[in-house]
Amino acid sequence: MSRKTLNIGLYGFGCVGFGLYEVLQKTPGLKANIKNICVKDKNKPREIGSENFTFDKNDILNDDEINVVVELIDDADAAFEIVSEALKRGKAVVSANKKMIAEHFTELLELQEKHNVPLLYEAAACASIPIIRNLEEYYDNDLLESIEGIVNGSTNYILTKTFAENLSYDDALKQAQDLGFAESNPILDTGGFDAKYKLQILLAHSFGYIAKPADLFNIGIDNIGPLELKYAKEKGLKIKLIAQAFKGSKGELSAFVIPKFVSSEERLFNVDDVFNGVLTKTSFADTQFFVGRGAGAHPTASAVLSDISALSYDYRYEY
Ligand code: HSE
Repeated sequence: MSRKTLNIGLYGFGCVGFGLYEVLQKTPGLKANIKNICVKDKNKPREIGSENFTFDKNDILNDDEINVVVELIDDADAAFEIVSEALKRGKAVVSANKKMIAEHFTELLELQEKHNVPLLYEAAACASIPIIRNLEEYYDNDLLESIEGIVNGSTNYILTKTFAENLSYDDALKQAQDLGFAESNPILDTGGFDAKYKLQILLAHSFGYIAKPADLFNIGIDNIGPLELKYAKEKGLKIKLIAQAFKGSKGELSAFVIPKFVSSEERLFNVDDVFNGVLTKTSFADTQFFVGRGAGAHPTASAVLSDISALSYDYRYEY
């Protein structure tokens, strides 16, 4: 299969942006080069030379040679401006911004359709687990009944460290931040919002249902109290933040994020630290289990890389 040459304009050079830069250096088979990198902070020391950077977002948007925009910034509103403008200008887009996607799902779908360009975002849900691609490609005939999992790496890390290693909540959160797992505003992780955004993405690709953030409820790990911890310890259970979506007997959909007790017989029991785990249940295959690192520079960059590679042969989601 012949592959397109990709000229990338990259927005953001934080943990994942730099991770992508490193990963691309080690993937010589792919005809993809980063032509320009747009960053916000002029004074921040960078790992590579200043000639690679711009501070004006239009330098990438106006560059006709750039055919792929990779958006890896933190701010969901600024990300939406960049992504929507890039799609309008006919540039394919890769994004890891689950908040931006969850908040603007319908508009993004319309833009893709209107301008006939793909937007891929495998890294936005469960980082290194290729869950969107599997949902898109595999389950056409064997219909999904439910999808359930641990989809936030930071909270799983915090729960593992506080529960098994008796670290304090604040220390565990600090570690998750230092390791580059947590969002800049960690309430998005601990309050279950990040997990809800990911669940919205999974809902779209598993059941074709586009939900708004307000449609689904989320209870975070900051609601777990000493009584729940004591109960779990006494009974040999763990507490995990679970995102869940399933069809009822009349085909009605339910979806929510809540902390749950998990017993040692359940597959998610051994999904610890920064790992994510997703269980699918279908009519014919019964259950399947996907596991992998749910956050961190290289695991997340690996999913961005797979989207870049997919764009080289014009892959797009069908929804
Ligand atoms: N803060 C997110 C998490 C990053 O901990 O899962 C990866 O999406």
